[in-house]
Amino acid sequence: MYLGLDLGTSGIRALLMDGAQRIIGSAHADLSLSRPHPGWSEQTLEDWITAAKAAVSALRAAHPVEFGAVRGVGLSGQMHGATLLDDAGRALRPAILWNDTRAADEAAALDARPEFRALTGNIVFPGFTAPKLLWVARHEPEVFRKTARVLLPKDALRLWLTGEAVSEMSDASGTSWLDVAARDWSDDLLAATNLSRDHMPRLVEGSAPSGDLRAELLSDWGLSGPVVVAGGAGDNAASAIGMGMVHEGQAFVSLGTSGVLFAANDAFRPKPESAVHAFCHAVPGRWHQMGVILSATDALNWHAKICGMDAAALDAEIGASVQAPGAVTFLPYLSGERTPHNDARIRGLFAGLGHEADRPALTRAVMEGVAFALADNLAALRSAGARVERVVAVGGGSQSAYWLGAIATALDLPVDVPERGDFGAAFGAARLGLMAESGQGIDAVCTPPVIDHTIAPDPALRGAFDDAYARFRKLYKVMA
Ligand code: XUL
Repeated sequence: MYLGLDLGTSGIRALLMDGAQRIIGSAHADLSLSRPHPGWSEQTLEDWITAAKAAVSALRAAHPVEFGAVRGVGLSGQMHGATLLDDAGRALRPAILWNDTRAADEAAALDARPEFRALTGNIVFPGFTAPKLLWVARHEPEVFRKTARVLLPKDALRLWLTGEAVSEMSDASGTSWLDVAARDWSDDLLAATNLSRDHMPRLVEGSAPSGDLRAELLSDWGLSGPVVVAGGAGDNAASAIGMGMVHEGQAFVSLGTSGVLFAANDAFRPKPESAVHAFCHAVPGRWHQMGVILSATDALNWHAKICGMDAAALDAEIGASVQAPGAVTFLPYLSGERTPHNDARIRGLFAGLGHEADRPALTRAVMEGVAFALADNLAALRSAGARVERVVAVGGGSQSAYWLGAIATALDLPVDVPERGDFGAAFGAARLGLMAESGQGIDAVCTPPVIDHTIAPDPALRGAFDDAYARFRKLYKVMA
């Protein structure tokens, strides 16, 4: 048995999988997020640990016998967050998350130094980890002085699970401190933020062991050791492992809190000026490219909150059959945007509102806005050499047939919908746990899911979607 733990932004999922990769069950514990100032986004390590304990307890209660046979654990998590620990391993402040843009000035300063793009293959985005440390050094010098260790969110959870400070290549790629081609920390980039290798965790590949579960947890969870904990992956690379996307030409669209268009690569293929992310994959010798938008389900949930409803009810209200976009256009830049704009200060917009604009019209506009932002990402990925001919849909928002239909037409690509099941990051993490424990290879483990149906672009809506996309692009220019 294998346990996958995915530390998402809205909650932690714990998933139990057997050696034949059948999913035995999963459990979820919610997390909330604190936004103490506009553009800030924080969570605490304490809340992550509490949620991890709750999710594991629920899973254990539902499947006591199977849980007792766990031999390997895999971790996945929201990327880029800065968890700052003192020399006793205590958190010095709340973690600063991936969608926090307070460090925009610091990011621009680092990005202006040629060695960052040259070694990391990426823009230094405000949400990445290095500029956050520069912000802390400037605004909270006492915290910076006491910082003995900087860990990414899932790696902070690993420290609690194993007692070891370890990261892996896919998540480390999003720090701006990794030499992504060499798959190693760069001493020069660390020095540029007044840090050194001593502040960093040891690096392993995602499918390799990183340590064993601590004795106290073995006893709390009724396990007999050793239970190996794999390196794991950033949540997007973990989802790719869950969907067997490890070869060139394989791609997915993820509708989570963020929206991601992900393409697997056989080689490192950076093109920083496109704002495409070029990162290590979670298995040795593979890389990936991604376009990332900061608000996907986050945008629909924002709209739902204002309507006093939940996103599923809004989705039910508009039905499944995709309509031509109406007069209302929505820009989903509630937390700024990464690909393709790298613009931390831009904000969202509803335009074209008339008296006839009712709630469903606004819901459709929000979904179309996210679809058009993903179309911008597709153009960026293609300019960076990615081959994307179809995409598999994953993430909470992919439950909406309307949204996937709008995405298929906006991207002009077939969207494959997997059979019902949990092929997301927690499943990918469990697969990495299996690989680390059993030594099985990439192609034996990373098989694709069975596709239930494919949503094709609708040629009858092509003209209307093209016009609406042109309006969307023009509005960004006006707002920027
Ligand atoms: C990727 C990114 C997001 C987070 C969300 O670069 O910032 O997808 O990983 O969990």
